[in-house]
Amino acid sequence: MTSQNNRAQFVTRMGAIATAVGSAVGLGNIWRFPYEAGTHGGGAFMLCYIFFIIILGIPVLCAEFAIGRATRANEIKAFEKLAPKTKWYFAGYIGVLASILILSFYSVVAGWTMEFFLSSLIGSLPADTAHLHSHFDSFISGDTRPLIWTLVFLAVNFIVLSRGVEKGIEKVSNIMMPMMFVLLIVFCFNSLLLPGASEGLAFLFRPDFSMIDSRTLLSAMGQAFFSLSLGLGCMLTYGSYFPDKTKLGRSAATTALLDTTVAILAGIIIFPAVFAYGISPQAGPTLVFETLPAIFINMPGGIVWAPLFFFLLFLASITSTISMSEISIAWLTEELKLSRKKATSVTIATAMVLGSLCALSFGSLSGFKIAGLTVFDLFDYLSSNILLPVGGMLVSIFAGWVMDRKLLRRQLSSDSGGGKKARMLGLVIFLLKWVAPIAIGLILLDSVGVI
Ligand code: PFF
Repeated sequence: MTSQNNRAQFVTRMGAIATAVGSAVGLGNIWRFPYEAGTHGGGAFMLCYIFFIIILGIPVLCAEFAIGRATRANEIKAFEKLAPKTKWYFAGYIGVLASILILSFYSVVAGWTMEFFLSSLIGSLPADTAHLHSHFDSFISGDTRPLIWTLVFLAVNFIVLSRGVEKGIEKVSNIMMPMMFVLLIVFCFNSLLLPGASEGLAFLFRPDFSMIDSRTLLSAMGQAFFSLSLGLGCMLTYGSYFPDKTKLGRSAATTALLDTTVAILAGIIIFPAVFAYGISPQAGPTLVFETLPAIFINMPGGIVWAPLFFFLLFLASITSTISMSEISIAWLTEELKLSRKKATSVTIATAMVLGSLCALSFGSLSGFKIAGLTVFDLFDYLSSNILLPVGGMLVSIFAGWVMDRKLLRRQLSSDSGGGKKARMLGLVIFLLKWVAPIAIGLILLDSVGVI
């Protein structure tokens, strides 16, 4: 990134896409997608998820990029600039709130990856699934270690963030993403050779339509937003750093394609193993951490795979947490005029307090429930299934109905004449104007039992 008019910008087009992909690809793909798919019927969930990525994810991603780059501002200022003297900026505050909630529970899981990295490196992970289950159970319910790892992970974020996004992130994303891909492909081949392969693949790819109910729809929609970092202004903020020459439509499609590919690869890795090792697909948030080590340990050269993978997963997490922290940091520095260091401290300190509560949700706070959910589950549910879809709905209404149409077209079009690209643009605008608000609205109303 470079600084222009006191505002940072990504240097290259490639760097811009790599950071967007870096934000999108993370624990959402490798940890959250498999467990959500596992608890919501496998194939049925997968089908709804891909459908939502196409009809909601890509259009809202285009809209966030366009609003960000058109205004070159943090999300609250962006709404103020495009719709002065209205209350639209309020959508920005929803985003800031969602980003803090996600940062808090996400850091707990990122902390688990650090624990697994270390224990696989020193060879202290048990080799069979039964022991893995009890090993992981006693780790997360033990309070101290999960808590320490959460705080360590957030402290690492603080160090990277307070030095400015420009130095590390672009470079890390450029190297890590291709490595992650290669590793996932290797693991896929390995899983396809497991005795549970055909059962696992059938679970993931053969939809049982009777499983599609309002809960599946809500979770798949929430997962689509979560995975693409949408609905909270993260991609809007990154869009505000994009160079003028970046093609937004193409970047959105590339980001969605790569992100979805990683999630599907993760599913292809996890589910054959789930069936091969007799793990329940409905294990929930702990699913991946109980399945993956079993796969690695049984692979030739197992000692290398596990630490390598958990290290990459840690990097993938940090490129995501940095992007979500950037939302409130951009707001605190540009609106409340805090220094970058102060803004970072406030953001990370808040996440440390809330993250501690999430870390303890599996241990001494496991009995503390609000609306039947632990703090960890509540933050996850509230942000992914409510705040992100509401944010996504507001962004699509804003882009479709409020934002100056010429400005939106100018941001999104790479060829302003007729032709295929112009037709795609027409489709994106149609989806933003009609399909996204109505679909999101109906699913949200359905989930609270109004319709
Ligand atoms: N998209 C990230 C993932 O799938 O891991 C999570 C995420 C990042 C959500 C940034 C929200 C956000 F602003």
